[in-house]
Amino acid sequence: SAEPVVLGIETSCDETGVGIVRGRVLLANAVASSMDEHARFGGVVPEIAARAHLESLTPTIERAVADAGIRLDDLDAVAVTCGPGLAGALMVGVSAAKALAIALQKPLYAVNHLVGHVGADLLRDPDPPRRADPPRGAGLRGVAGDVGELELPTVALLVSGGHTSLLLVRDLLDDVELLGETIDDAAGEAFDKVARLLGLPYPGGPEIDRAAASGDPRAIAFPRGLTRAKDLERHRYDFSFSGLKTSVARWVERREADGGSIPVADVAASFREAVADVLTAKAIAACRDHGVPRLLLGGGVAANARVRGLAAERAAAAGVALRVPPLSLCTDNGAMIASLGAQLVAAGHAPSGFAFGADSTLP
Ligand code: KG4
Ligand code: ZN
Repeated sequence: SAEPVVLGIETSCDETGVGIVRGRVLLANAVASSMDEHARFGGVVPEIAARAHLESLTPTIERAVADAGIRLDDLDAVAVTCGPGLAGALMVGVSAAKALAIALQKPLYAVNHLVGHVGADLLRDPDPPRRADPPRGAGLRGVAGDVGELELPTVALLVSGGHTSLLLVRDLLDDVELLGETIDDAAGEAFDKVARLLGLPYPGGPEIDRAAASGDPRAIAFPRGLTRAKDLERHRYDFSFSGLKTSVARWVERREADGGSIPVADVAASFREAVADVLTAKAIAACRDHGVPRLLLGGGVAANARVRGLAAERAAAAGVALRVPPLSLCTDNGAMIASLGAQLVAAGHAPSGFAFGADSTLP
């Protein structure tokens, strides 16, 4: 049978994402972001995000359909993120997806945002670019389009502005185990807060990454959360970044009180090193403990150069195969939701119907 053509809608945070796939082939990935509107508040404002989704969703659907070169009638199903995320933001996407599915008389699938991030890793580019220089970070998994098959089980490390989760994925559709998660701030949130301390603009992740490139990662010994023997007993796969953030804040305050200037590059590099160290050490430990020699990265923080680099180093040393999606599929997008939807259709799963709502705290 033909591979299902699925449109996926993602509105859990500040990205309005609409993707279209045919089975595992990526046809379109249109994203509109309200990031700029939140910048002056230093973080995502839920009310602004929801209103922005309402304004951008229809044009983004139109753009995705045009990019994919299909007609809405060609769709076999619609998929949508139903949680976790910002309640009001999710409701806009869920309502739009229901309207679309009802109007087109197509089945509708509700998808968990976190599992969607893993779905991103299934996708192939229909028209792989033939270029001599692989895109940044592509050395880890070959040139886009030449991605091989996703092998299961795999450990997945999902790190973004809203979540920091370590998953054991035995089956994408019905066997995803949460091994651990952050007990306070998400990793991306820590990047954004530390950037603010250093006077860098929002979102802070890419800014810190850039500043850190010329800094010394050993300049300042910042703490690694939940890594002491005592913590590991109860929180082997959990993360904590608020102590690290506070430690950076205190360090900067002390330096300012002493009348010294802030060595932004060194602080950024030392902070980035602390985050990358903990994330990759715990992810590799999970692979070892569970005898799973595969690790997959996802989420906006997986775009971080040091997170990618250290993951590659440690995975190689541990004999773990590492998969990192292209940057455009790491950050929130609709293609990953469409991808998971296509898997659900192909596996013959029953559609979700229309009675489901948005669940901001979906496990
Ligand atoms: O996955 P994403 O686009 O949206 C959420 O679901 O949150 O992730 C956004 C987060 C932001 O906190 C941003 O600062 C962080 O990912 N981020 C980075 C980098 N690029 C984006 N953090 C560290 N290094 C980066 N290069
Ligand atoms: Zn996300």
